[in-house]
Parts: sequence; structure tokens; C-alpha cells
Amino acid sequence: MSHPLIAPSILSADFARLADEVAAVKGADWLHVDVMDAHFVPNLTLGLPVVQSLLKATDIPMDCHLMIDDPGRWAPGYAEAGAYNVTFHAEATENPVAVGRDIRAAGAKAGLSIKPGTPLEPYLEILRDFDTLLVMSVEPGFGGQSFIPEVLDKVRTVRKLVDAGELSILVEIDGGINADTVEQAAEAGVDCFVAGSAVYSAADPAAAVESLRRQAVAASPHLR
Ligand code: DX5
Ligand code: ZN
Repeated sequence: MSHPLIAPSILSADFARLADEVAAVKGADWLHVDVMDAHFVPNLTLGLPVVQSLLKATDIPMDCHLMIDDPGRWAPGYAEAGAYNVTFHAEATENPVAVGRDIRAAGAKAGLSIKPGTPLEPYLEILRDFDTLLVMSVEPGFGGQSFIPEVLDKVRTVRKLVDAGELSILVEIDGGINADTVEQAAEAGVDCFVAGSAVYSAADPAAAVESLRRQAVAASPHLR
């Protein structure tokens, strides 16, 4: 990884002005879109029709984070629509490898996500079948929660495997990333930083993206 990816989460944006809110994070590497179904998580956000419209409104590669039950049924549709990366939750399916394979076959990078309390070990063997590992650093469902530093042990484990050449995967972190937490995540070995409230509560969201990027680069040798 040569540089950190910053992925603003539109969960904290004004949903009535989504195209403007996306334009406000010009310079972002990925646009993080949180899909919630009120079953896998106790919140409901948006789905494929909104993603399809957003894809027409921006050239920023779209990072769809599916916090939904039955991802095998829904995830490939987001890839077919043109999302760059489609991530689903390991806890939501019996067969993550098959879901990842279907996402790739539909034309997107495949991401696997684990909640803060979910151990990494049972999934280490299948990470070779994924492009992205999304480590949740809050309980999925809501923006604006506090970062859970204990999850960084999972980041460190995967970073070691990647640096040793035993695994090729991008490590993404999601939840509570801001000016106070981005450096510890970078030090642990994160490649891609999702930030919702930290970006969209800023007076200048694009400047907030650049500021997080500068902090991430400064805090970690693997991102220089
Ligand atoms: C939470 C979502 C996150 C959320 C992060 O379930 O997956 O992407 O938008 O928001 P912040 O950065 O405010 O914690
Ligand atoms: Zn997310």
C-alpha cells in the first residue's frame, strides 16, 4: 500500500442533498455507502435504487458496506450496478466464500466485515478469497459512536500477514475514526479509513478528508 485511502461515509450526510454532499468530499478515495436493513442492524438506511442514482452522480469509487441479512441474495446487485467494492458481514451468512465469489463474478472487489466482538481467527483462512477486510471499530448501525481500540489487534494480525507476503488484502476500518483516533489506526496497519461524522460535521468536508489523510500518512511507515 503506498498511500492511505480515505472513505467518507455518507451516513452522516444530509440525505435530502446527497449529490451535493458527495461533491463536497472531492478528493476522497472511496465513497462509503452504508446499506442497513433493520434486521442485521437496528437501523434502516438506503438500498440499491439510491446507490444506482449515486453512481451516476459521482466518479468516486463506491464502497458499499452491506449491514444486511442474506447478503448472498443482495450483494451481487450492488456489484452489477457498478460499485467498486462490495463488503458484507461474516456474521450474516453461512458461506462467505460463495458470496465473495459472486461479488467478484459480478465485477466488484469483494469485502468481508467483522463486528467488534467477532474474532478474526475463524476467517483467517478465507481472507485469501477477499480483496478487503473491513474491521468494525463500533457496533454497526449508527454513526457518531466512540472508537473501540481493542479491535486494532485484528488489524495488527492482518497487517503482519500482508507485510510478510502471506496475504494480499486491503485493511479497512470503520467507526469512530476522527482526528483523535486515525493515528492509532494507521500505526496498527490500516490502509483505508472510513469517516462519517468527522467528515460531515466539519465546516469543510474536503479539508477534513485531507487532514485525516495527512495524519494517517504521518503516523504510519507502511502508508508512506
Ligand atoms: C456504522 C457505519 C459507519 C458509520 C461511521 O454502522 O458502518 O460507516 O457511518 O460513522 P462514524 O465515522 O461517525 O463513526
Ligand atoms: Zn460503514
